[in-house]
Amino acid sequence: MKTIDELLAEGVAGQRVFVRADLNVPLDGTTITDDGRIRAVQPTVARLAEAGARVIVASHLGRPKGAPDPAFSLAPAVARLGELLGADVAFAADTVGESAKAVVAALADGQVAVLENLRFNPGETSKDDAERGAFADRLAELADLYVGDGFGAVHRKHASVYDLPARLPHAAGYLIATEVGVLKKLTDDVKRPYAVVLGGAKVSDKLAVIDHLLEKADRILVGGGMVFTFLKAQGHETGSSLLQEDQIPAVQEYLRRADERGVEFVLPVDVLVAAEFPDLGTKAPAHPTTVAADAIPAGQMGLDIGPETGRLYASKLADAETVFWNGPMGVFEHPDYAEGTKAVAQALVDSPGFSVVGGGDSAAAVRILGFDEKAFGHISTGGGASLEYLEGKTLPGLAALED
Ligand code: 3PG
Repeated sequence: MKTIDELLAEGVAGQRVFVRADLNVPLDGTTITDDGRIRAVQPTVARLAEAGARVIVASHLGRPKGAPDPAFSLAPAVARLGELLGADVAFAADTVGESAKAVVAALADGQVAVLENLRFNPGETSKDDAERGAFADRLAELADLYVGDGFGAVHRKHASVYDLPARLPHAAGYLIATEVGVLKKLTDDVKRPYAVVLGGAKVSDKLAVIDHLLEKADRILVGGGMVFTFLKAQGHETGSSLLQEDQIPAVQEYLRRADERGVEFVLPVDVLVAAEFPDLGTKAPAHPTTVAADAIPAGQMGLDIGPETGRLYASKLADAETVFWNGPMGVFEHPDYAEGTKAVAQALVDSPGFSVVGGGDSAAAVRILGFDEKAFGHISTGGGASLEYLEGKTLPGLAALED
C-alpha cells in the first residue's frame, strides 16, 4: 500500500488530490456532538494543503436515499474542518455537478474544498457495478490523485471507496495507516491475556466477530442490549428487555464453543431495569432499580449493566495485556444508565495493557462521558469497519489501495 508520505515525496503541488474521508459525525440538529472523525482526518488534509495540493475532501453522512436531503448536508462538518485547519474551506453544493466543478476549478494551490454528501448521488452506494463505475468516472474527472483516509467506510464497496482508487494514482492517508497498524496488533501476534468487551443493541451485528474471536480471545465480556439474548439463551427470564429470539440457537452454540475452547464468556450478574425506555430528550430521572441478571421481573427492561457487574468486568480487564471494546454497556446517553459504560471505559484507562476502543457509539461514548482520549491506546474511527477487520474479512476500501 503506497503511503501518503511517498506521494508527498513525489510532489503534489498544483495537483488536485481527492481525499475520501469519513466525516459521518453524530449530529443533534446541526450541532456536531462528537467531532472525532473530523479531527482524525485533519492531519492528512493539512499536510496535503501545506504541500501545495488542491485538496478535494469528500465523504458520506448518514444514510440519505440517493438524492439531496438537507438533513444530511455536510455543512456542519465543513465548518468544523475549517476551524481545525484554521483556513477557509470551500463547499460545493453537489457532488459531481456544476457547483463541484466550479469549486474545484477555483481552488488555488494549498486550498481545501469539500463536496456535498456523496450519498446524495445514487451511484455512490449502488450494487450495480456499472452505475457505481459511472459515478466514479465523474468523480475521477475532478481530481488527479486519490488519497484514501475514510477508515470508517472502508468496509463499504462504494464508488468513492472502491471504484475511484482504481481510476486514479492512489495512496493511503495517515488515519488509515494508523488504524490498520493498530488492528494488526489485535490480529497478529496478540499479547495475552486478550479480553474483548462487546456491547450495543443487536447480537446479530456481532455474531460474525464473536465467531472469529472465539479463536483468538481469552475472555469475552458482554453488555448492552445484546446481552439479554445471551441471558435468555441460558434459560433466564428477561422481562421486556430487548431480545432477538431468532438468534438464541446461534448464541447457545457460541456459549458451547467458548466452553469447549476454554474461552471465558462473562455475562452480567446484575442489571438496571425500569418499566420504560428513558426519555433521551428531557433526560428526566428514570428511577431504575438493580436486580440480579437471572431474575429480571416481568414488565421490566434491562437498560444498563449493574454496579456489581461493572466491578466484575473491571477485574476481568485489570490484567489483560490487550483489550478491544466495541459497543456501550447500556443506554449511556441517559445519565441514569451511563455508569456501566463508564465502568468499562475506566477499566480500559486503568488497564496497563494495550486498549482499543472500536469506533462508532463506544468511541463517541468515551468522549461524551468526558474521558481523556489519550488515556486509551487507540480510539478507532471505524465501528463496522474495525469489526469487519477483526472478522478477518477483506475490506474493499483497503483492497482498492493495495495495488
Ligand atoms: C460508520 O458510521 O460506521 C461509517 O461512517 C459507515 O457508515 P454506514 O454504516 O452508513 O455505511
